[in-house]
This record gives sequence, structure tokens and C-alpha cells, in this order.
Amino acid sequence: MAYGLLKGKRGIISGALDENSIAWKVALKAKEEGAIFTLTNAPIAMRMGAIKLLAEQCDAEIIPADATSVEDIENLFTKSTDILGGKVDFVLHSIGMSPNVRKGKAYTDLNYEWFKQSIDISALSFHKMMQVAYKQDAISEWGSVVALTYMAAQRTFPFYSDMADAKAVLESIARSFGYHYGKLRNVRVNTVSQSPTPTKAGSGIGGFDKFFDFADKTAPLGNATADQCADYCITLFSDLTRMVTMQNLFHDGGFSMTGISEEVMELVNKE
Ligand SMILES: NC(=O)c1ccc[n+]([C@@H]2O[C@H](COP(=O)([O-])OP(=O)(O)OC[C@H]3O[C@@H](n4cnc5c(N)ncnc54)[C@H](O)[C@@H]3O)[C@@H](O)[C@H]2O)c1
Repeated sequence: MAYGLLKGKRGIISGALDENSIAWKVALKAKEEGAIFTLTNAPIAMRMGAIKLLAEQCDAEIIPADATSVEDIENLFTKSTDILGGKVDFVLHSIGMSPNVRKGKAYTDLNYEWFKQSIDISALSFHKMMQVAYKQDAISEWGSVVALTYMAAQRTFPFYSDMADAKAVLESIARSFGYHYGKLRNVRVNTVSQSPTPTKAGSGIGGFDKFFDFADKTAPLGNATADQCADYCITLFSDLTRMVTMQNLFHDGGFSMTGISEEVMELVNKE
């Protein structure tokens, strides 16, 4: 059911790789709620072609941009405001990648060049997007910027490796830039800390299936799906959440506040 929450709003949605991507679901819901937007992803992701199907469904143009390149991001904002006919009201940062995780490097044996890439792709890119938007004055008054994160920024999940550090930086950037953008244009900046979700990035983490089940059995409401995450992002883009900023918002069925559940106790007792 649609509520017209984003009627008349313009946006930029990054990170839709395939139909499992959280950003893919956000795009479909943003369209349903009346927004117009551009889609963006790394040039290499274009080769997979799936994003073109999404663009057709959403009547959206695709602007390739490597999120580590300031030049690409400048082009992304300039083109988006041109195509959409004005400043944007919302931006979704849904980007994460760690070469160390992808290549199975243990946290105690990190390749530091790859570590820099993890931070650049997964965290600094968020700063770059906002710095470009700030300098171009490309986000409207009371606009909303959301990035997706994971609870490994606060608690240790051994297989999350250097992505945990990248997420901690990402969440800190939301607070720091949230202050400055709030002062400049009342733009709000938040991170949404989502449950484990079966996507390309999610299932790349070692032991993902067990991790997913454990979270599902711990959270009183179970794991939040990508669709539910998209619903939450839409509320954050809408005018209903205008005074929420500089927050890390858990969207995890209660996982982050649960010590242990009865289901997990039973599993431990069986051993
Ligand atoms: N899946 C989970 O379990 C989970 C849980 C919490 C948070 N998140 C976060 O959600 C976000 C989206 O991930 P997802 O789970 O939908 O997986 P996904 O693999 O569908 O999306 C990750 C996206 O990042 C893009 N990307 C990678 N390098 C890039 C670059 N240099 N420039 C531009 N884009 C680049 C990929 O092309 C891809 O579209 C990520 O930040 C991820 O860390 C995921």
C-alpha cells in the first residue's frame, strides 16, 4: 500500500546491484511513494545489466559513478539535478565492499592496501557524497541522507573483519556531517543499522548463514527483511521524520537490545 510519502520529491539511490539489493527495494518503494530519482552504481556493476531493468521499472536514469571518485560524484550530482529538474530531497548511500573480506583475509592478517580500499569504498564515499552535495548546494532544505550500516560497528562479529571498522567510520561521518549539513540547510543525516540480509554483499561475509540464523533466533521480532528496511528508509526520506538526525537507527527486530533469547538458550543446552 502506498501513502504518497515522497510525492514531489527528487532523489539519488546508489547501490542497486540485483533484485536482492536493499537499494533495489528502496528504489521500487520510492517510486511507489511518488518520488523521481536517478540510480547510480560503480561502472563495473553496469556490466551485470540488472540495474537497467530496475531503471525501466522506475522510469529512472542511470548515472555510473565510482563512489571513491570525487569527480564521478560531482558528475552524479550535477547530472541528477539537471535530469530531475532541481535540487534533490533525498540520497541513499547503500555501498559496501571489503577486498579483505572478499579474499578471505583474517582480521589478524589484513592487507593494508585493501583495508584502505574498504574504508574508501564503504565509508569515505559517504563523506565524499555529502561534501560534493554541500559544495554544490545540491540538497534541498530539510533533505534527508541515509546510509546503511551494520551493528559490527558497536559489537564484535569476528568474520566481519575490516568492514566493522569501516562501518564505525561511516556512522561517525553521519554524526559529524549531520551537524554541518543541519546548520547549513536543515538537511538530516542518519545511518540505518540493518539485520543480516541475504544479498551479494551480505552473503560475502564468512559464516553468513549461521550468523543470519543466530540473529533471527535472537531478535524477538526475527530479522528485518530488505523490503522492511526499504520501508524504514522511505519514512526517513519523508517529511514525517524531519527532526531525526545524526542518529544510528537500529532496524533489526530488537537484536541489538537482546542479550539472549529462549531459542538460543535451547540450542546451547542441546550441546
Ligand atoms: N546484507 C546485509 O547483511 C547488510 C546488513 C547491514 C548493512 N548492509 C549494508 O547495506 C548496504 C547495501 O548492501 P546490500 O546488502 O544491499 O548488498 P549489495 O551487494 O546488493 O550492494 C552493495 C553495493 O555496493 C556497490 N559498490 C561496491 N563498490 C562500489 C564503488 N566503488 N562505487 C559505487 N558502488 C559500489 C555494489 O556495486 C553494490 O551495488 C551496504 O552498505 C551493506 O554494508 C548490509
